[in-house]
Formats: sequence, structure tokens, C-alpha cells
Amino acid sequence: MRRTPRPLVLILAVSALAAAALTPLTSAEEKVILTPKPGPEPRINGARVFGVRPRSPFLFTIPATGERPMTFAVEGLPDGLTLDTATGQITGALAARGEYAVTFKATNRSGTIERGFKIVCGDTLALTPHMGWNSWYVWENHVTDGIMRAAADAMVSSGMIDHGYQYVNIDDCWAVKPGSNDPTLQGPERDARGMVNSNGRFPDMKALTDYIHAKGLKAGIYTSPGPLTCAGHVAAWQHEEQDVARFVEWGYDFLKYDWCTYLGGGRDKTIDELQRPYRLASAILAKQPRDIVLNLCQYGMGKVWEWGASVGGNSWRTADDLGGRFEGIPAALFRDGFDVYSKNELHRHGGPGRWNDPDYLLIGYLSDWQGGTAATPLTPNEQYTHFSLWCLVSAPLIFSGDITRLDDFTLNILTNDEVIDVDQDPLGKPGRRVAKSGDLEVWVKEMEDGSKAVGLFNRGEGLAEVTALWADIGVQGRQKVRDLWRQKDLGVYKDALKAFVARHGVVLVRMWPEGK
Ligand code: GAL
Repeated sequence: MRRTPRPLVLILAVSALAAAALTPLTSAEEKVILTPKPGPEPRINGARVFGVRPRSPFLFTIPATGERPMTFAVEGLPDGLTLDTATGQITGALAARGEYAVTFKATNRSGTIERGFKIVCGDTLALTPHMGWNSWYVWENHVTDGIMRAAADAMVSSGMIDHGYQYVNIDDCWAVKPGSNDPTLQGPERDARGMVNSNGRFPDMKALTDYIHAKGLKAGIYTSPGPLTCAGHVAAWQHEEQDVARFVEWGYDFLKYDWCTYLGGGRDKTIDELQRPYRLASAILAKQPRDIVLNLCQYGMGKVWEWGASVGGNSWRTADDLGGRFEGIPAALFRDGFDVYSKNELHRHGGPGRWNDPDYLLIGYLSDWQGGTAATPLTPNEQYTHFSLWCLVSAPLIFSGDITRLDDFTLNILTNDEVIDVDQDPLGKPGRRVAKSGDLEVWVKEMEDGSKAVGLFNRGEGLAEVTALWADIGVQGRQKVRDLWRQKDLGVYKDALKAFVARHGVVLVRMWPEGK
């Protein structure tokens, strides 16, 4: 006799549900922290594979939670690399191409943990989606050297580094702004060699990247292929070689290359015109003695996902700015996050070294675009939805709220290691929507170990029961199911999983065939 699956009732933001039938829930939801805090025992987190080019400076910090002091060890570390056993920072350079299977170990007074890791020395960077922080959505045009240093400090003190966050990226507004009345934005645009200068808010870029690197983190910068950036600062037009050389001289590891004023800024361009600046930039980057990840930003023009990797992009923005309008963020999450992705079947285009980028994580405190900051307009459940979707589709996890003002709820969204494992899975196979019934959607990502990560989403305005059928997920028989936000086993299910999901909320699970 067939057993009917046990009903699963998972309720996010319980207190909000009572009001569901009566009023919209936007401001009524409580911030329910679902994720248990990491324990004192060591746990190694984040990516399990890392790409580097031969002879490039190598920097990878083993992300590990657990009580300090902690001691690190690496078995099988190839020649050329050195481990700092107190910090877990691996530095040096690899001479020979190849795959190096190593074992990371972390020990503290509660025990020792081991985890396999693969270093791939070849041509491909960004073998898993980038994780980090970007200045734009909180600091926009008033970013400074001090803000970037404080962000690096906070990435360490908040513990985000222990979950795999790595990049500390300046967005627009570090270069001189022609015509500005603000003395800190004035000055010579370039030096005698034609190399781009930073403005007075960034007195010493090399010292800044040294500061970021010393913490085991990486540094990112931004420019446009046009004459000016979107905010009107000097950009790379006809100085592409010099500006990339400048970024190398300064020690940057990541470049966001934003269309902005290129070819007059219009969007009526041929595919060749759309590709040209990115081909040029990636050809220049390939010649550098330093690894710089290339992030294409041109808002999805010309179906960039179809050719972003072929012009050398490691990731490409798939739509306009998610936070273009502060109050518009929730709508943009569903439109540009969910719908752009499924309509264009973006899962077919992502993979190791080449990721769809639906823009930054807009949680915590964001710029209100009036000189101040404000709490994200996303409800608590929308924030779980935002992060879950990004992990299911293998999106870069770049937080762009105020990293120096992280409340416990925001930190719980950003640092759930089992959820991050979905994003960072070494197979690098972006998930996709497998079922839609009105406002209810089921998304699935195949994981390297043969398990599936499954998101049950409710885009509707009230509580609803979402059913995820085995036939849609692509599994059979009895499945062991684990709730990833709560880090809790739910039991064994057959044929389907049903969950009550709150307005704009999600239940995110991972399932393995029973016995595995
Ligand atoms: C936009 C871009 C944003 C941000 C901004 C800076 O074009 O999409 O992410 O970089 O420019 O001016």
C-alpha cells in the first residue's frame, strides 16, 4: 500500500500569518531567525574548489567557523604555496597547470575537522560564484578609502569571512569627476603616463588593497568602457590598456565593467558593438601577471547570457539595477530575479567560471538615495526568498547593505553554511524552475553529490500550500529531506513534499535518496 507523504507544515513568521487574511503583511512580519548559530567546534565552509592561473599571486583564506584560537593545516599543498597556520591564509604562486586535491584541516579545543578541496591551476577563474561585499547600494557616490577599510574590518569581525565571503569591492565614484564642484572629486584625471588617478577620497589605492589583502580578503574595482562612469567619473575609454595596468599595479582582484556611457550609452546596439568592449578588456586582462575576475555589467542587453562567457566574462548582470528604486526592490526581486531568469532559461548559460548575476543582496541597511540609509524594504520572508533564489541559481553572493551595521537577522540570512553550500556547490550547475502553479513555484538545483536543493516559493499575498512533486524534481522513491534554513532533518518523504509557505516566502530543503 502506498503511504501518503506526511504533511509538512513549515511556517515562516508565524505571527504574521494570523493577519494574512485581513491585511497585507508588508510591515507586520517579525524577523524570525531560523538558523542556529555555529557551534564552538570547527567547521570548514564555503567553496570547495578554487581556480588560479599559473604564476599569478595566490590568495585563499580557509573559511572556518568555531571557537578561536584555531590552527589550520593543509595536506598535499603543492609547491609554491604556503599556509599561515594561525589565520588559514594560503599564499604564494603555482608554476604548473594542473588539479591539486588537498585536504584542509582546522583544529581548536573542541576538536578537528577535515574537508577536501581542489585547486585548479589553469585559465579559468571564479569556479564558484563570487562571494563578497560591494559599496554601491549603501554608499553610492560618497564612498571613501575609510569606508572600504571599515568594510574589510567588518567582513572579518562579523565572521562573514568564516563563511566564505572574500571580495571587498568598490563600485563607482573612486575616480576624478570632471566638472565637479567638490574638491575631493577634483584633480588630474590621469598621471603623466596616462594612468587613471583616484580622487581625493582614495589617497593611496595600493595601501588600500594591501590593507584588504592582509586580512586574507580580495579587492575589487569598477570602471566603464565609456569615457565616463554612470555617475560621471573618469572611465577607461581609449585608455583600456593603461587602466587595466593601473588596476594590476594597485593590486585589484576583481573588475566590474559597467556599460554606462559607452557608444553614447544607448541600448540600440548590434551584438558586435555590445561585445567589443568586453572582448577588449578580457584580452588585456589575460595578459596580466595577476588574476582579475571580470564582471560584465550591461543590464542584460543583447541576451548577454548567451555570449558573456565567450567574451571573457566570469559573470554578467542579467537585468537592470535590482535596487534602482528603493521601494521597487520587492517587485524587482520577483520580476528581475525570478521571471527574467526562468523566461530566458538562464540556467543553460551559467557554470564554473561563468555566472548569471541578478545583482547584489539588498538586505540590511541600504542607501535611501537621499543622503541617508534605511532598512531594506524587503520583508523578512522576502529576504529568505531573495537569498534562497540566489543560491539555487548559483548567483554571486555580493552583499551591498551596510556591512558595519549588521543586525542578527541580516547576519542569519547571510551566513547559513548549508544554504551557502547550495550556491557554492562545486558542480556549478545553476538551478531552474521546474513547476509553476499560479503564484506557487518549485525550483531545483542539482548538487555534486547527487542530492537536490529544492525551493518551494509562494509569490502570492497570503499563506499557501506548495507541493513539490518528485516527478518535477526528478527523483524517485524515499527521500531524506533536510530543511536548510533551520538546519534540521525533516524525515523521509515519498512522491511529494508539501509545505505551507508564507506570503512571498520560501521553504528551502535538500534531499538525498534514503540510505545515502
Ligand atoms: C549602474 C550599475 C550599478 C552601479 C551604478 C554606479 O549602471 O548597474 O550596479 O554600478 O551604475 O553608477
